[in-house]
Amino acid sequence: MSANIISGKEISAKIRERIKYEIDEIMSANSDNPNFIRPGLAVILVGEDPGSAIYVRNKKRICEEVGIRSFGYVLDATTSEADLLDLIDQLNHDDRVHGILCQMPLPKHLDEFAVISAISPVKDVDGFHPINKGLLSMGKECLVPCTPLGCVEMLKLSGIDISGKHCVIIGRSNIVGKPLSALMLNENATVTITHSKTKNLKEICRQADILVAAIGKSGFVTGEFVKEGAVVIDVGINRDPDNKVRGDVLFEEVVEIAGSITPVPGGVGLMTTTLLMQNTLQAYHNIISKEADL
Ligand code: GUN
Repeated sequence: MSANIISGKEISAKIRERIKYEIDEIMSANSDNPNFIRPGLAVILVGEDPGSAIYVRNKKRICEEVGIRSFGYVLDATTSEADLLDLIDQLNHDDRVHGILCQMPLPKHLDEFAVISAISPVKDVDGFHPINKGLLSMGKECLVPCTPLGCVEMLKLSGIDISGKHCVIIGRSNIVGKPLSALMLNENATVTITHSKTKNLKEICRQADILVAAIGKSGFVTGEFVKEGAVVIDVGINRDPDNKVRGDVLFEEVVEIAGSITPVPGGVGLMTTTLLMQNTLQAYHNIISKEADL
């Protein structure tokens, strides 16, 4: 029997509707104050990677949809680290900006860790700052990376129980694999992280109740990796030579074995941008409530 398709399109649209409703409420409750600041997100893009440029355009469009003010900064590929850190410092102190995102990957001459660490942890809507990473690994409240959060929200909103399940993650990136392992642990899953040096990869993957593919290789996960009835989450966004967007999972094959599966496109990717809006709203509330305490 063919798997249930988990639609990122439908789930993310519902989340965005809720965010828009909440922002509309905030704005109408403060409509008599002309100085009232709407939630705002700053997005920095360094260089001209075509994929990144598309993501940045999408973020701007979705900000408009939910009522978040967006500030876009497109910097030359040769921008110095000092100039980038200066911009981040300005944004850290800008009251109109509640979230700051610097699109990765950065050009090689820039130190990603230095850039991530320069963003104020309270405005770190990517959840990449070492403080947020540390809090996540300790199971404490923090800003959580959008893609892993999107995976967990998709499972929860599809009514899939995580507690006690064996979750196998393929990929150990700082953006997806590692933070997702912490999130799934916090949800009481039993977690295995696998990677390019893992031995018996297929056998381990076949033990998964929930299998997450975050490798960046088109069609890598074939039917042989999947236990009958397992939940398969495909984080991959790859462009094939024919320019088609494809996931890390060989969908046509795995859909016949899995119990539930996320498609590409129309799956996790849409959740990522939506959860960025949710994180921006969370950062806004955190900042506003701190100001109220002063
Ligand atoms: N590049 C790929 N995914 C992401 C993400 O979630 N955030 C940022 N900043 N860059 C990315």
